[in-house]
Amino acid sequence: MTANGSGMSFFEDIAESEIHLHMVDEAEIAQNRLDSYREVMSDDEHQRCDRFHFERNRRQFTITRALLRFTLSQYVPGVAPRDWRFTRNGHGRPAIANEIGQALDFNLSHTTGRAVISVSRSTFVGVDIEWRGREIESADLARHFFAAEETADLPDVAVARDRRFFMLWTLKEAYVKALGRGLSIPLDSFCIGFPEEDAISLRVDDPPDAPFGWRLWTLDAGGDYALSVAAKAAEPWRLRLFRSVPMSIAQEIECHILRSL
Ligand SMILES: CC(C)(COP(=O)(O)OP(=O)(O)OC[C@H]1O[C@@H](n2cnc3c(N)ncnc32)[C@H](O)[C@@H]1OP(=O)(O)O)[C@@H](O)C(=O)NCCC(=O)NCCS
Repeated sequence: MTANGSGMSFFEDIAESEIHLHMVDEAEIAQNRLDSYREVMSDDEHQRCDRFHFERNRRQFTITRALLRFTLSQYVPGVAPRDWRFTRNGHGRPAIANEIGQALDFNLSHTTGRAVISVSRSTFVGVDIEWRGREIESADLARHFFAAEETADLPDVAVARDRRFFMLWTLKEAYVKALGRGLSIPLDSFCIGFPEEDAISLRVDDPPDAPFGWRLWTLDAGGDYALSVAAKAAEPWRLRLFRSVPMSIAQEIECHILRSL
């Protein structure tokens, strides 16, 4: 991505009303890149990585940290990938700890084979990606976690039900992540519906954010993945999607929105 008329790079110039999604497909990452990725990790991240029993989890963790660190440095070139520092709120939501002047925030999600981060000026953005390939009992999970109306609306046919389940799951996770409170918000305390083919509805019984509206999107991320984004915002926002190979590629690709609010 090249510099624009303002003298800033494309990413440095991210608009207030934009959310950038950077997605990495682990299959695109050659094993010999991992050494460079490890070099930018903090001591704490090395320790977290070493605690994983399986190599596949260490690989996923390393790629995700590289995605985060190299991507953030594209937005703030004055901070090198290894110099990013992070803090967490009381519910575990990470945020940038460096002094960087203009507001910048991220949210992160990983699943088998993929990781994605959102980057925005707003701190109220959440993202969630899930691989749909794993075996699940979607009807049981929905009964356990979801609001009664959401469960009642699930299709009877298993394939369609699983697809709908993952769409709902990622939307609900994105919403609680945007609020920064994770699962301290019960997943059955708000209700997401699909009133029309490309629409999403949200009902919150006890809105903690009454003056604000919410934007929700669920995307076709390619492959067998469900990807959703939530943002607390009154005005329309623009989503942009980038295929990332940390340290090397940040290529804008079509952002195929399946449904939105
Ligand atoms: C942590 C949680 C916010 C998301 O977890 P998840 O969907 O399993 O995993 P994801 O990869 O999408 O997200 C994890 C990342 O979210 C971020 N995160 C953690 N706590 C967060 C919070 N309170 N708010 C926003 N983001 C948070 C972190 O970056 C974390 O990754 P890191 O620890 O490597 O930095 C939380 O919702 C959770 O534990 N979910 C469990 C999933 C579940 O049981 N769902 C049932 C639905 S049927």
